[in-house]
Amino acid sequence: MRPIDVEALRYPRKPMAVVTGASGALGAEITRQLLKRDWFVVATYRSRPSEDQRQGTLWERFDAGDPETATRLKWVTEDLPHHLQAVFCCAGAPSSKKPVADTDPDEFARVYEANVITFAAAWRALAARARFDGSSVLAIGSDAGRAARPNNGPYTAAKAALEALVITLAKEEARHRVRVNLLAPSLIDSPLAHEVMALKGVTDPVSYFDGLPWNRALELEEVATACIDLATAPQWRYASGQVYPLLAAS
Ligand SMILES: NC(=O)c1ccc[n+]([C@@H]2O[C@H](COP(=O)([O-])OP(=O)(O)OC[C@H]3O[C@@H](n4cnc5c(N)ncnc54)[C@H](OP(=O)(O)O)[C@@H]3O)[C@@H](O)[C@H]2O)c1
Repeated sequence: MRPIDVEALRYPRKPMAVVTGASGALGAEITRQLLKRDWFVVATYRSRPSEDQRQGTLWERFDAGDPETATRLKWVTEDLPHHLQAVFCCAGAPSSKKPVADTDPDEFARVYEANVITFAAAWRALAARARFDGSSVLAIGSDAGRAARPNNGPYTAAKAALEALVITLAKEEARHRVRVNLLAPSLIDSPLAHEVMALKGVTDPVSYFDGLPWNRALELEEVATACIDLATAPQWRYASGQVYPLLAAS
């Protein structure tokens, strides 16, 4: 049992979220929207802490390849007086967009670590607190996990594995009132998307977006709002073990 921290009891108790990959575009937007709603956010980065150190955010380094950072995430989160209502797992990394025959096996390991091990390691760090608080967990997958398009093997395989892990975890944690879901967006207009388009040799992103369903990419703001809604809004309180595509292309 943790000793009772008297100072913490005087602290106003807020809804709290952990956002992994909060230094990335989507994690940063989820964090921004949660702060506007007066949540407390434990925001993780791996290599580049955000310059946006707003009040109500605690930045922690978390790297799936460094178990000490996961241990620290566990202790820091367990010591906070707030109510852990949601965990948003936004960490991820793309592939180099080569055919499998030309992809170094190390790339499969690196992409798997960024997209899948981050989720497993974060859950291991947060499980005790999340079970106690009956948290909702949302993993960010991708439509790539099912579309299985050519030249994206490591990323497709990792996001497919992430779906399987989310469904497994939802079954394991149901008895603790923990919900676990996955949102699978298609292309989001973000720095990562522009990096991926460049790797694919796309020189005109506007025309590329025009060829997508509804002639557009998703916007960061709308994806972040959908993430927060799915993880926290009362109308989703029955949803667990589900995969929700957003604007999936064929
Ligand atoms: N952008 C899109 O078009 C799109 C579409 C569908 C799905 N998604 C998915 O949505 C999620 C967020 O995308 P995004 O555009 O925000 O990506 P992003 O800007 O590249 O951010 C990725 C985040 O993951 C962190 N990260 C990477 N490897 C990690 C590791 N091994 N351990 C811990 N953290 C790690 C990065 O930390 P540092 O930067 O500090 O190193 C960063 O905070 C990803 O899972 C992505 O696959 C994105």
